[in-house]
Amino acid sequence: MKKFNRTLVTTALPYANGPVHIGHLAGVYVPADIYTRYLRIKGEDVLLIGGSDEHGVPITIKAQKEGITPQDVVDKYHNIIKDSFEKFGITFDIYSRTSSKTHHETASEFFKTLDNKGEFIVKTSEQYYDAIANQFLADRYITGTCPHCNNDGAYGDQCESCGTSLNATDLINPTSSITGNKPELKETKHWYLPLDKYENDLKKWILEDHKEWKPNVYGQCKSWLDTGLHPRAVTRDLNWGVPVPAEGAEGKVLYVWFDAPIGYISATKELTPDWEKYWKADDSKMVHFIGKDNIVFHCIIFPAMLKAEGSYILPDNVPANEFLNLEGDKISTSRNWAVWLHEYLEEFPDKQDVLRYVLTANAPETKDNDFTWKDFQARNNNELVAILGNFVNRALVLTHKYYNGIIPAQGELTDFDKETLAQIPVFKEQVEKNLETYHFREALKEAMNLARLGNKYLADTEPWKLIKTDEERVKTIMNISLQITANLSTLIEPFLPFTASKLRGFLNIETLAWENIGANVISNHHQINTASLLFEKIEDETIQAQVDKLLATKAANEAEKKIVAPAKENINFDDFMKLDVRVGTITAAEKVAKTKKLLKLTVDTGIDQRTVVSGIAEHYKPEEIIGKQVSILVNLEPKQLKGIESQGMILMAEDADGKLSFVSPDQSIKPGSEIR
Ligand code: 2FM
Ligand code: ZN
Repeated sequence: MKKFNRTLVTTALPYANGPVHIGHLAGVYVPADIYTRYLRIKGEDVLLIGGSDEHGVPITIKAQKEGITPQDVVDKYHNIIKDSFEKFGITFDIYSRTSSKTHHETASEFFKTLDNKGEFIVKTSEQYYDAIANQFLADRYITGTCPHCNNDGAYGDQCESCGTSLNATDLINPTSSITGNKPELKETKHWYLPLDKYENDLKKWILEDHKEWKPNVYGQCKSWLDTGLHPRAVTRDLNWGVPVPAEGAEGKVLYVWFDAPIGYISATKELTPDWEKYWKADDSKMVHFIGKDNIVFHCIIFPAMLKAEGSYILPDNVPANEFLNLEGDKISTSRNWAVWLHEYLEEFPDKQDVLRYVLTANAPETKDNDFTWKDFQARNNNELVAILGNFVNRALVLTHKYYNGIIPAQGELTDFDKETLAQIPVFKEQVEKNLETYHFREALKEAMNLARLGNKYLADTEPWKLIKTDEERVKTIMNISLQITANLSTLIEPFLPFTASKLRGFLNIETLAWENIGANVISNHHQINTASLLFEKIEDETIQAQVDKLLATKAANEAEKKIVAPAKENINFDDFMKLDVRVGTITAAEKVAKTKKLLKLTVDTGIDQRTVVSGIAEHYKPEEIIGKQVSILVNLEPKQLKGIESQGMILMAEDADGKLSFVSPDQSIKPGSEIR
């Protein structure tokens, strides 16, 4: 294996158009943080780089919808995201943003270097243009009918109803979502990176030299490379992003996926004047932590950009994760189907490690996985409380009880003591081996095995019984139990940093060196502090409250989804003409006694004053509708309702939720006017 002298760990830059959720944490930030903490605690030279991705069309659309500027959008979410990461203990050396000056300069320079080297192809093609808004339309700004499933709301890049990926020109009846106008095709010039030029190099680099990459990553790369690579546009007609620094490129910005990965470089530059060492030296190792939707950008496009530039190293690994679902459904920002980190932090104060634990134990490392609140509760109660918390608590409480918190010296060791102690370095090696190969679930399991070992040791030696008969032996047992506890505080540090720090507080020790794991790390006669519980049981009610919250979201989504009733069968004109609908004015209104829904109305129809019984009492108060002009069907057969003859029907508009509204003329008009 190649020997590296420093490591640069990057984490996908989340779009700053919404807060971050458990999917982000599980897929990218927790594993990256575990990996980085591990290298740091071993004393290696490592940087953890992150930041917000603040460009791209979804941000401009969100700004437009909310009537604010894109800068307002990214300012708001950048801060929320940054704060969530900090509170979950993601130890970024820098968390930057792509709207920073350094980033604009760096991305611009990068483009210029490639342009000057003649690495781009400049091509003209036809794209949709909104003549009223005076701008080219990004794919997301065009909607129309999907040619595959007839969904009316398909986007220019994808139909979210049937999932087909589309070209804007595939849409039937394309409409600009800026003006509602029909866009026209117009020629525009763009800069393309000829990915095909790097196809062979990439094939060798990934398919031959990096067979160790995770199968999901390797497989996706192979499929892209087998299909064949094509030139890809790296500029867009848009006014939000890094302006394209080339002649004839007014009104164009760099494609968000061109500038975003350069954000890793910009952030490193902002962090240290030594940045080039991490990006260019042959003995530097670069690792990109990302989700599976980012694989092609990090394994093919960004490496092609770096190769085109010529002076950069390529990543040594890209341990992308699959997706985390929530209670069986895909996490979705627009459907609010997520556990938002800022909300979790409020609802589960001081339980960051519980979520870190659950998301690691159940990480979507090789396949999509499901987060359920039941599993969250079970892992907390049955693993963190019952295994880790229980062992630590027993070791500490017994030491206080028997020895006033002063660690007794070991006497002679039994074979069982020796075997137990000999296990500790084995777990350490297992954790190391798994972390170094990006198997975080397995690594966590091995770390927890040390707590299991501790529990077993106490259960087998039973110091609470021996204390009455063999006090000398109990001293040794408690000493060994505390050695295990102290070793645990280091071994769990990468995974559960808040717990590790609490544990060090209980033990009254500083962070121990990683290489000392396995040794007797805590000295005789050391005074430990009073302890409290490391973890508390999570009750059913707490879990039910979270499940209820999700059920409410689901109900709200269903209500929104309720579609407009389908059109009825066609009728002929004569049928239509049979209806005699007039404008009428309500002149009197009162509740029908003993009913909830009915109002008795007197309506001036122009023809006569007549009585109509109408089921609108839950929507309108009698006194507020006197004088209102409405539509009334006057030739409906009279009908007895609650003993009153109703002579006609007031026409009401009704939405999917049953909300009623009068259909009224938009200006005062003579009662009796015909509606056709
Ligand atoms: O998928 C995303 O959320 C992108 N914003 C990730 C960008 S990663 C990197 F290239 F910056
Ligand atoms: Zn479709």
